[in-house]
Amino acid sequence: MTSSPHFLEKLGVRLPIVQAPMAGVSSPAMAAAVGNAGALGSIGVGASNAEAAGAMIAEVKAQTAAPFNVNLFVHRPAVADPARELAWIARFRPQFEAFGAEPPARLTEIYRSLVVDDAMIAMLLETRPPIVSFHFGLPGEGAIRALREAGAVLLATATSLKEARAAESAGIDAVVAQGYEAGGHRGVFDPDAPDDQLSASALTRLLALETRLPVIAAGGVMDGAGIAAMLDLGAAAAQLGTAFIACDESLADAGYRAALFSDAAHHTTMTRVISGRPARSLANRFTALGDELAPEAPPAYPIAYDLGKALHAAGKARGDYGFGAQWAGQGAPLARSMPAGDLVAWLAAELAAVRR
Ligand SMILES: Cc1cc2nc3c(=O)[nH]c(=O)nc-3n(C[C@H](O)[C@H](O)[C@H](O)COP(=O)(O)O)c2cc1C
Repeated sequence: MTSSPHFLEKLGVRLPIVQAPMAGVSSPAMAAAVGNAGALGSIGVGASNAEAAGAMIAEVKAQTAAPFNVNLFVHRPAVADPARELAWIARFRPQFEAFGAEPPARLTEIYRSLVVDDAMIAMLLETRPPIVSFHFGLPGEGAIRALREAGAVLLATATSLKEARAAESAGIDAVVAQGYEAGGHRGVFDPDAPDDQLSASALTRLLALETRLPVIAAGGVMDGAGIAAMLDLGAAAAQLGTAFIACDESLADAGYRAALFSDAAHHTTMTRVISGRPARSLANRFTALGDELAPEAPPAYPIAYDLGKALHAAGKARGDYGFGAQWAGQGAPLARSMPAGDLVAWLAAELAAVRR
């Protein structure tokens, strides 16, 4: 375990706080505001192509001189299964028809894994973001070496000691210990393998004691007291996602924000139905349907997400937000709405108050 001041120095930030990358929710403006306030801001480019990701990096750089993190999805590329995909489309036809819409005729892999995206690697080597993080797995040796040589500090999500050890052997600089309470997609390397569903506190303590990597604790942390608890368990920093969803710079739509401040926040649930991979969402019409369909395996990630996004668009066109990917962690009832820089200032003050 590396002491936290040393690790924060390596990242180039003052506060032990990371604003989580949230593809489709975090924004370059959010990352810049967080960086300007002394914490580490992140953009999630896992669902973007190299060109769009490059534009987002340029946007962050235009708004801050602070370091920032660029996050990529490193999942096993999807294997198409046309029969399963057609059956999935047929299952959801009634929901589309209720919105006066046609389901898509076929489903596609709507974005590529970094493991098969050489253009993305080339863009990262050219734009040289100071910090690069990986979710769902690790890239190959060559990519890791090239990014390190380009000066990037590398982070990877781990949900177990086994995944953290794989990150350590691969030359990753720090692990994001993602507990089961965390919002959004679970970073498990293999979504079909048994999952011990460790909490953020148990996982953070385990990785702090059993690996040599600095640990960034993620899952259910919503305020300064939560950050302090994770630091006490040996984390070098805490990564907060749900806490930032309602910030001004967030891309979350009106329905998502309303749901976050409703009773649904007390009933987050882990579901595969929306995207094909386990992810924690606010309880909504989609997750309820997922519970009914539980024994049926959805198409592979992110092929299933093609249908999920189409269904949300069909509902939204009729003013129904119940089929949105409203990711949130178990701390959702504690979410606050304000500019991201102000939230960082609050978190820092709360942390200092707990420490006093
Ligand atoms: C809306 C949302 C989107 C997310 N998207 C990503 C992502 O693109 N990449 C990633 O590594 N983690 C993503 N996560 C997971 C976060 O990195 C982090 O593990 C999680 O937010 C921590 O739990 P919390 O939400 O309870 O703070 C997302 C989380 C949320 C809530």
